[in-house]
Amino acid sequence: MITVATPGKVILFGEHAVVYGRPAIAVPVTQVRATASIEVARSGRGTTILSTDLARAVHLREATPDDPLAAIVRAALARFNRPEPDANITIHSTIPIASGMGSSAAVSTSIVRALAKFLDREVDEATVSSLVYEVEKLHHGTPSGIDNTVVAYARPVYFIRGQPIQTSNVRQPFTIAIGDTGVKSPTKIAVGDVRKAWEADRDRYERLFDQIGSIVEQARTAIETGEVGALGPLMDANHTLLSEIGVSSDELDQLVAAAKAAGASGAKLVGGGRGGNMIALVEESTHAAVERALIDSGAKGVIVTTVG
Ligand code: PMV
Repeated sequence: MITVATPGKVILFGEHAVVYGRPAIAVPVTQVRATASIEVARSGRGTTILSTDLARAVHLREATPDDPLAAIVRAALARFNRPEPDANITIHSTIPIASGMGSSAAVSTSIVRALAKFLDREVDEATVSSLVYEVEKLHHGTPSGIDNTVVAYARPVYFIRGQPIQTSNVRQPFTIAIGDTGVKSPTKIAVGDVRKAWEADRDRYERLFDQIGSIVEQARTAIETGEVGALGPLMDANHTLLSEIGVSSDELDQLVAAAKAAGASGAKLVGGGRGGNMIALVEESTHAAVERALIDSGAKGVIVTTVG
């Protein structure tokens, strides 16, 4: 049996604006992961994908073209130039679904890598990322490509849509608390709503995206020069702009406020928004209080992770 694990991710700065060509910064979160295990099945059975979390089994031959689990297997087999093998692929993920942590991209990434090993094929990060991107389109409609990139490379990335990936060097490690509102919010819907609002008032939205882009540039400099203290106010400013764009929610605002009141130096929603997760910048002296405050304010889970 071959097993492959892929971490989750959070977008530190720049979500939504990244869809419109502005930069964004995302980092892997290794505390959560999606694994794919693959083993030989009885001859003639073809490929079956079992999702223990979703309690579903997908038989490749019967799956519709828009089934994301079947789509990633088909895309990988086409790229490897191999027919459907007799194999059972079992997926398990601890990454919360529809919560801005890249669960779909991580599941797809693990499937591609597990299949490559099973079929004795070399697969580089760029190939994994581009295969996963094709399937992300089924989930998200018009994804920027940031999720598949950070998850496939499993490194901090500075990302601009359509440009070669740039990894970011974290000069001084910093710690974030990730709080889950427990509200499932498909990215596709938030991204679609932002598109409608942008179409209705392009000038206003382009200005907001420019402001977010400028925050991302400042954050990149802070991360690469080790001025970690600058990141808190930049998170706050990014959250305010995301609220103006219309992707925050009462639950997210409540967790952001609770984290700040408990000593976090900055906080923001992450990913598609409307629900899902938020992050707060914490220190050794504040992380326990922030974690408690998030839970007391309704967070369904908190992950504390160090970046860099
Ligand atoms: O919610 P997530 O983790 O899938 O992140 C979505 C990020 C967006 O910028 C809102 C969309 C995208 O494709 O970049």
